[in-house]
Amino acid sequence: MQTGIFISFEGIDGAGKSSHLQAVADAFRLQGKTLVQTREPGGTALAEKLRELVLHDAMDPLCEALLVFAARRDHLQQVIEPALARGEVVLCDRFTDATFAYQGGGRGFDLQVLSQLEQWVQALPDGRLRQPDLTVWFEINPAVAAQRLAAARVPDRFESQPQTFFQLVHEAYEARARAEAQRFARIAADAPMEAVRQAVLNALSASGLLQAEAT
Ligand code: TMP
Repeated sequence: MQTGIFISFEGIDGAGKSSHLQAVADAFRLQGKTLVQTREPGGTALAEKLRELVLHDAMDPLCEALLVFAARRDHLQQVIEPALARGEVVLCDRFTDATFAYQGGGRGFDLQVLSQLEQWVQALPDGRLRQPDLTVWFEINPAVAAQRLAAARVPDRFESQPQTFFQLVHEAYEARARAEAQRFARIAADAPMEAVRQAVLNALSASGLLQAEAT
């Protein structure tokens, strides 16, 4: 029986999500929760190898989609499901919404094929689909994100895409958030850092997953 909590963090590159993940982890720790902080693609030895390929090697969109779902399958089996079964809190930097946004929106890959892969990879023994209990979406204007990225490290295969790519990724996130509004907490990520941090913690309290005194 699952007793844990699964939270994913999403947004286009440059939205600043990873820096706020730590604040969420600290808040859960303060409440005595055991945490798993992880990321996609990645989170296991195999999935981290697949991440390297996806981020740096040229490949076609189907190959890219298959590799991110292969990484996800291993991650679910080795890390996420066991942690949830132990009643822990899993904080995951990106999950399947990123595939619908980047491969579906950005690359224009067939959404029905992605849905089929999602079914195969995330099906639970009782037939339900594993999805995060909450997805914190850092929503930012792609032009602002592009400015932030320009000052950042050497870009990978996604970060080096033009702003038009990120506009499509953004729109695909928007469509996922609209379709599953109850799962998504939308955070205005172009606000000052402290305001974003507080908005994230407030959203977690409002969802009932984090007790209010931690915020
Ligand atoms: P990160 O830089 O936030 O760790 O994400 C790695 C990159 O991988 C990011 O540019 C988004 C991309 N990505 C996909 O294209 N598809 C996916 O399913 C996931 C999880 C990430």
